Amino acid sequence: MSRLDSFIRRLEAQRLLLNTTPDLVAGRDGLILELGLGNGRTWDHLREIHGGRRIVVFERRPSLPPHRLPAASDLVVGDLGETLEPFAARAGEPILLVHSDLGCGDPAIDAALGAWLGPVLARIVAPGGHVISDQPLATPGLDPLELPEGIGQGRYHLYRRAAAV
Ligand SMILES: C[S@@+](CC[C@H](N)C(=O)[O-])C[C@H]1O[C@@H](n2cnc3c(N)ncnc32)[C@H](O)[C@@H]1O
Repeated sequence: MSRLDSFIRRLEAQRLLLNTTPDLVAGRDGLILELGLGNGRTWDHLREIHGGRRIVVFERRPSLPPHRLPAASDLVVGDLGETLEPFAARAGEPILLVHSDLGCGDPAIDAALGAWLGPVLARIVAPGGHVISDQPLATPGLDPLELPEGIGQGRYHLYRRAAAV
């Protein structure tokens, strides 16, 4: 498969999965976290499908023009290793959904990130909350769920935070 085809399939899988997320948070009050603003495509899509729900975005180097950035109150700038847990500690609301799209394509860097991120998310996501990740997060407390039809195995990952870790 060409890299172009692979990229298109990844975006299709991303959209398919993101489109299931309003059902995952329905009926509960709480936050959505977007890890990795990048070009802001998936953040913008989440905004569109989640109406007025607050989405907080984490990015170490925001590079979009100001008019395309999230409001300052919803953008946490810095490395996740320093920002994510402190934010969760002061959030004051349950974290119901995390979309993590942090991969850089270097297998060693991406594997190390996944190994670090999984346990952090298991600590900060509310019981019954969900994590969608471009990286596998084999972590006690994050139960893997089946992907919706149409998403190739391993292309994306969906987890539910267990009731007790
Ligand atoms: C693949 S891009 C995200 C693309 C985005 N979902 C979109 O639709 O445009 C990954 C982003 O994650 C950010 N990132 C990666 N590791 C990070 C870290 N440890 N802390 C904060 N941001 C990080 C990168 O700077 C990059 O902007």
